[in-house]
Amino acid sequence: MNTISVWRATAPEAGFPMLQEETTADVVIVGGGITGVTLALNLVEQGTSVVLLEARNIGFGSTGNSTGNLYETVSRGIHRVVNQWGGDVAHAITTARRTALEQIEQRVRRFNIPCGFRRCKLYRYATTENAQSTIEKEYQASLKAGLTAHFEKTLLAPLPRPQGPAMVLNNQAQFHPQAYIHGLAGEAASRGCRIFENSMALEVDPDRRVVRTANGQVTAREVVLATHSPKGIHLVQAEMIVNREYGLATRIARDSFPDGIFWGSGIERLSVRSVDVDDATFFVCVGEEHKTGQEDATINLDRLEAAAQGNFNVSEIAYRWSAQNYSAADGLPYIGRDAAGCFIATGFETDGLIYGTLAASLIADKIAGRDNVLAPIVKATRFSPLKGAKGVAEETATVLKSLIKDYVTDRETIPLSQLMPGKAAIVKFENVSLAAYRETDGTLFAVSPVCTHMKCRVHWNGVEKSWDCPCHGSRFAPDGTVIEGPATEPLQRHFLPGH
Ligand SMILES: Cc1cc2nc3c(=O)[nH]c(=O)nc-3n(C[C@H](O)[C@H](O)[C@H](O)COP(=O)(O)OP(=O)(O)OC[C@H]3O[C@@H](n4cnc5c(N)ncnc54)[C@H](O)[C@@H]3O)c2cc1C
Ligand code: FES
Repeated sequence: MNTISVWRATAPEAGFPMLQEETTADVVIVGGGITGVTLALNLVEQGTSVVLLEARNIGFGSTGNSTGNLYETVSRGIHRVVNQWGGDVAHAITTARRTALEQIEQRVRRFNIPCGFRRCKLYRYATTENAQSTIEKEYQASLKAGLTAHFEKTLLAPLPRPQGPAMVLNNQAQFHPQAYIHGLAGEAASRGCRIFENSMALEVDPDRRVVRTANGQVTAREVVLATHSPKGIHLVQAEMIVNREYGLATRIARDSFPDGIFWGSGIERLSVRSVDVDDATFFVCVGEEHKTGQEDATINLDRLEAAAQGNFNVSEIAYRWSAQNYSAADGLPYIGRDAAGCFIATGFETDGLIYGTLAASLIADKIAGRDNVLAPIVKATRFSPLKGAKGVAEETATVLKSLIKDYVTDRETIPLSQLMPGKAAIVKFENVSLAAYRETDGTLFAVSPVCTHMKCRVHWNGVEKSWDCPCHGSRFAPDGTVIEGPATEPLQRHFLPGH
């Protein structure tokens, strides 16, 4: 099955060249998602010279695989922030998110970016009786966090009849995320930012401030790792839970679905919306989150399809996709300098189109020596064991469980000869365990199953045909190449001629 998001399928390629030289800049940004591209534009607008390196193409990461919703609150509930950090911090977060949303709107208008930006309402509703108390709790917390929330009795068809009233935030927004960052990237490039695609950073030397790719390198005053999860080994990785979530889009008649962001909680947690792209309208449905590398991805995607069909009578799915999110145990993102002196921006949960935009403002302020009120709150080197204790313990347990279970029990293996075309498994070959995938034409890819980040063992993802690590979310292609996550080195490839 081919997976591609409705956003990536319906936006033209950006078409930037590959880095093939040694060069210098004031700032080198690694990563061309919303964080990296927005920062690139902020910096060139303030007269700073910038090189941006993107491993694949602009929007390849979570930005081009998101839902494209923009809101002042946070999707897992502002009540979590209020409970853990208090009303003042929650207020600071929603205020900064509102400013970031306004900045996106201003840029869409100023640069005339054709990304379908529209203001709309956000509805949070319960589909079961049990979930209704969470909506009540969220309403009270929203008021404490300075949001203007109200209730509406019901939702327009074809949305389900909620259990109790839906909580509503007015004046939120939606756009086409891939079209937006392509527009921003074009504006940054036209102001002198040098953007390179297919230019993966293979090595980052934080002391010498050098970033090396296969065919070139950049030396800069500042290094920004806008890679969603920072590359290499960072303390924050021990404090983040890594999840994958699934999306699908299906064609519908224009105006057959109401405008808005719709978040339903109950047995399923679904986020749905519609989007007009050229002459077509799509219904978009996102959900079925699970920890990366810990569940059968095929089952989760099937469940999402069943939920979309059951709740919204969806037929003929045009696009299916999946993407990763990183949640900080204490509920706030990590933005700023890390212990090695590079800038990082991570822990955005599923709210990073806005967090990425505000991270770009914060980092640009830091580089220019300006104060930023949010900087101390989201500091990348903070250590808040009490606020994040449960999440840290959960994540540490996940890592230990993966390490111990996979090493002690040496997961079930089959002989290589039994690996059928189109299948993947941990196989035994001459007493060595290998992570093997046989393509439908019989071609074999065999790699080491030991993740190059911190040595957990990878698990097969049958939807995206990748080896995913349960510990910190590194993902690898069947030939071992790094797709995403903190790992920088590929899985070691084994060539087995004749197999
Ligand atoms: C299913 C889903 C739906 C979501 N929906 C929403 C939503 O509606 N609203 C919202 O606000 N948030 C949403 N999010 C969250 C949001 O998509 C992310 O938080 C946000 O896109 C992160 O942006 P980023 O630029 O930091 O990272 P990314 O978009 O992941 O970009 C990082 C880039 O770095 C590149 N890269 C990685 N390693 C290297 C390297 N070594 N060298 C060079 N480049 C490298 C990658 O290829 C990638 O393009 C959603 C997330 C998921 C999973
Ligand atoms: S991602 Fe950290 S061990 Fe694999």
